[in-house]
Amino acid sequence: MHIIAVMSGKGGVGKSFVATGLAAALQRRTGRTAVLDADITGASVPHMLGVPKSGRVDAEGRLLPGMSPDGIRVSSMSLMLPADEETLIWRGPLISKAIDELFTLTDWGDAEYLVVDMPPGTSDAALTVLDKLKPEGVVIVTTPQDMVTKIAHRSHHMVREMGGNVIGLVMNMAFVRCPKCGEQIDTFGSVRSDADAELPVLATLPLVMEWAALADSGQAAKIATDEFDALAEAVLAGLKVAGTASAS
Ligand SMILES: Nc1ncnc2c1ncn2[C@@H]1O[C@H](COP(=O)(O)OP(=O)(O)OP(=O)(O)O)[C@@H](O)[C@H]1O
Ligand SMILES: [Mg+2]
Repeated sequence: MHIIAVMSGKGGVGKSFVATGLAAALQRRTGRTAVLDADITGASVPHMLGVPKSGRVDAEGRLLPGMSPDGIRVSSMSLMLPADEETLIWRGPLISKAIDELFTLTDWGDAEYLVVDMPPGTSDAALTVLDKLKPEGVVIVTTPQDMVTKIAHRSHHMVREMGGNVIGLVMNMAFVRCPKCGEQIDTFGSVRSDADAELPVLATLPLVMEWAALADSGQAAKIATDEFDALAEAVLAGLKVAGTASAS
């Protein structure tokens, strides 16, 4: 199983949005994709992919993941906990333990690709994912603002220090298009800054109101399919460059 982690430096830049869009593209391509929602305290993957609350534990203690309408297996703490326990306050070490258990105990079936929605930033929980899951490739999501890309680069350095492979950046919410005249307005001014020069930009995505509504109503798999198909292509090429992907 090829593990691809989606990371960010800062919250709210669209990490889960990109993780679910990438997973949907890999699912269109292979039909054998799974997502691990490792953002234990900010679990949003089941909501975005329209996965009903369906996580179960079988007689052998294996976690049976939920399933999105297009067949993506999703393992998330929010599918395992009763609704009234979802707001539990988690202490750091418990978060790391929960991630480890979700990964090792989930029945991933015949999944070929596992996309991981990472815990925020360079937290201990993020370290746990890098250390225990050893993703083959990492995608870093950022918005094209100097401060945010600088923070994203902390994630880059953390992954590098741990011997990981950062495939590149996704610039999210980079521009909006005027609904009247079609003019492109750069949301944060210039799209590139010095700080992101050392990593390739794999995709530059606009901020689209309809996309936010689709993600919010469990239809993230329908968003920007061309853009996410191209991103999936670039990510798979990045795995191959790292020399760790199999020929399949
Ligand atoms: N390009 C986009 N166009 C429109 N809406 C977007 C776009 N990217 C993200 N969003 C929306 O913005 C919100 C924040 O995105 P998301 O939840 O993916 O961020 P995140 O980095 O995972 O945040 P957190 O740190 O809270 O986990 C979501 O409601 C999402 O649907
Ligand atoms: Mg998120």
